[in-house]
Amino acid sequence: MAKPHSIFACTECGAQQPRWMGRCPECGAWSTLQEERTGGASAESATPNLLADASDAAPKPLPLGEIDPEQAPRLPTGIPELDRVLGGGLVPGSVLLLAGEPGIGKSTLALQLAAALPDGARVLYVAGEESPEQIRLRADRLPALPVNLAVLAETRVEELAGPWRELDPAVVVVDSVQTLRTARVESAPGSVAQVRESASLLAAAARVQGAALVLVGHVTKEGSIAGPRVLEHLVDVVLQFEGDRGHAFRLLRAHKNRFGSTQEVGVFRMGASGLEAVENPSELFLAERSGGAPGSCVVPLLEGSRPMLVEIQALVAPAGYGTARRTAIGVEDGRVALLLAVLERRAGVDLASRDVYVNAVGGVRVGEPAADLALALALASSRLDIPLPDDVVACGEVGLGGEIRRVARSDLRVAEALRLGFRRVLLPEGASELLGGAPAQALVGVRDLAAALAWLRAEGRSGST
Ligand code: TYD
Ligand code: MG
Repeated sequence: MAKPHSIFACTECGAQQPRWMGRCPECGAWSTLQEERTGGASAESATPNLLADASDAAPKPLPLGEIDPEQAPRLPTGIPELDRVLGGGLVPGSVLLLAGEPGIGKSTLALQLAAALPDGARVLYVAGEESPEQIRLRADRLPALPVNLAVLAETRVEELAGPWRELDPAVVVVDSVQTLRTARVESAPGSVAQVRESASLLAAAARVQGAALVLVGHVTKEGSIAGPRVLEHLVDVVLQFEGDRGHAFRLLRAHKNRFGSTQEVGVFRMGASGLEAVENPSELFLAERSGGAPGSCVVPLLEGSRPMLVEIQALVAPAGYGTARRTAIGVEDGRVALLLAVLERRAGVDLASRDVYVNAVGGVRVGEPAADLALALALASSRLDIPLPDDVVACGEVGLGGEIRRVARSDLRVAEALRLGFRRVLLPEGASELLGGAPAQALVGVRDLAAALAWLRAEGRSGST
């Protein structure tokens, strides 16, 4: 018999190596290789002929046209923002990975989901991180106590079978998947092998029993799903819970959804009694906006198919001793550096030896190039000490030549800005022709950054007085 041996798997990318290394040769991450034991037997026995062993009792393939999609009914979670992201609700027998940084509100969302489920839908909450008392304490802060929820403090997968069968739950929550372990694998809890094996055992159970399995998973600071990255293939839906822990605002985004679109986002606010839905994110972000100060510009962003207005602030100050500091929160450093260079070279704004600070208000992470124009205007406005008029938003991508480029769904963005009382939208020249619905005086087309700055010089002062 072949003796068992070890392989080493990377917790970031899942690549396997025959020996331990300090750095994963596949993805370049440091100290991510972990030992896994393998049986060794199967690899050496001859590969059997799969077709020769086929039995008559095998399942029959179904013609695609005869498959009834209604066979997969939805279990609405009762939380509209969550249902929106899921595409209508949880699908029985499916597996959902709820990923996010520690402290973002995953456990809270799981409890609220349990409370909002329709009557009779039981929930088994597998608690690996917190004691049942801690879970009860958290539940007491929420608007409704999930009476249909049973807590099981157990991390051994094999021990879950009994309670699962007995309770016959509609939803099984595992908080978190990193704490699970199964006797089938020898490695430590949280290792790639444990997480993968435990999750696939539970996923198989969920399919057979028809429960929706919700796996809570932590992600690292870099945003990748640590360990459970390998789960992305195994699960049907990956929801990512995002936001800044210092702020109340939370975004729930579908990274993968076998039952719906990945275009929808759910917007929440973490309050004193759990997560509340935010129907008008723009109003949340603009609530404390003072206006009239240089270095601020509002941009209509698009999250999925939802427009939301976000304020971008910039502060340009003379650099102190040594090299100039460039600090950006909520905006990519590279994007800021690019716009500084374009402002300097194409629009003649002197930014050398200046400290630059950029902030997207409300803890929002701005990933869209559509925010370029607003960011450039905020930077220029601070540098030139000219405030933008209060009634203006800007959207457009800035190219290296200083040209302003069109962005997707300008119509939705303009409509949202006008709905919230803004009267003018700065956007790429030509894009305004596509927006038949918007009043012509609301649309200000600019060809390049130099034109945008000329507009700022002409309108900024007058708008602020
Ligand atoms: P939690 O759900 O424990 O996060 P995760 O499971 O993702 O680690 O939520 C953590 C934070 O949310 C915690 O810092 C406290 C805060 N919180 C509130 O602000 N209000 C509430 O009603 C609850 C339940 C939590
Ligand atoms: Mg938690």
